[in-house]
Amino acid sequence: MKSVDIVVALAVVLAAIGFLLLAMTAFRKKAQTGAIRGPSGRMIVKSRQPSEPGPPPPLVAPPVPDTPEVQVNRRMFLNRAWLLAMSVFGVAFGATSVGMLWPNKISGFGGKIQAGAVADVLKAINSTGYYYNTQGRFYIVTYPHTDDPTNMYVKAGVAKQGLMTLYQKCAHLGCRVPYCASSKWFECPCHGSKYNYAGERQPGSPAPAGLWRFALDITGGQVVVDTSQALSQPPAGTDTINEPPQGPHCINIGAK
Ligand code: FES
Repeated sequence: MKSVDIVVALAVVLAAIGFLLLAMTAFRKKAQTGAIRGPSGRMIVKSRQPSEPGPPPPLVAPPVPDTPEVQVNRRMFLNRAWLLAMSVFGVAFGATSVGMLWPNKISGFGGKIQAGAVADVLKAINSTGYYYNTQGRFYIVTYPHTDDPTNMYVKAGVAKQGLMTLYQKCAHLGCRVPYCASSKWFECPCHGSKYNYAGERQPGSPAPAGLWRFALDITGGQVVVDTSQALSQPPAGTDTINEPPQGPHCINIGAK
């Protein structure tokens, strides 16, 4: 059972106890006053007039007189019962709220994604020009400047050991940007924005900047990409690889 379920179950039980206490308190109060509900729904208080003389009462201890002390004790009991019920309800309400707000473990897009072994990522790049992860909606491409600690992508943690991530979402209006095998750029089919192999916006594109990226971690030869936050979108005019199109464009609108 998840921790959220346990918290919610606890909250429900506490709330039920609180309501039970409230109901018991109200019932007891009603019994003391002898109130009943009439046909019209209004409360009728039964008078406690002595009826015809019956058999003599059994020999029992005389009832405790309703002294001011007894009245204070009864009032204290009701006050405390009410306070306890409200406290339980407050705890239950708080626990339910915490349970609803408790962060769930995120898997898939929005969390950390295993992209696989570096060797497999490189194999995909050598075969098609890029590695693509459907679940994480990102590309991994090769990037030549990962040994430079002053490089903006290295500093942002989106480029490591010769690899860099690229978020597939176009910086213009968010279409998925595919890779163009002939130009070796990323070219958006929606309005023709073009990005070089490093995902940097090329002149003439309607997109205001380059592609976003995700943090990349390489441990024990395994690549893990954190898709919880898009990072390091290069502003227009950034060009760290200075690589012209390697062939014809796939999209013939916008930048050439
Ligand atoms: S959404 Fe990509 S160019 Fe408009």
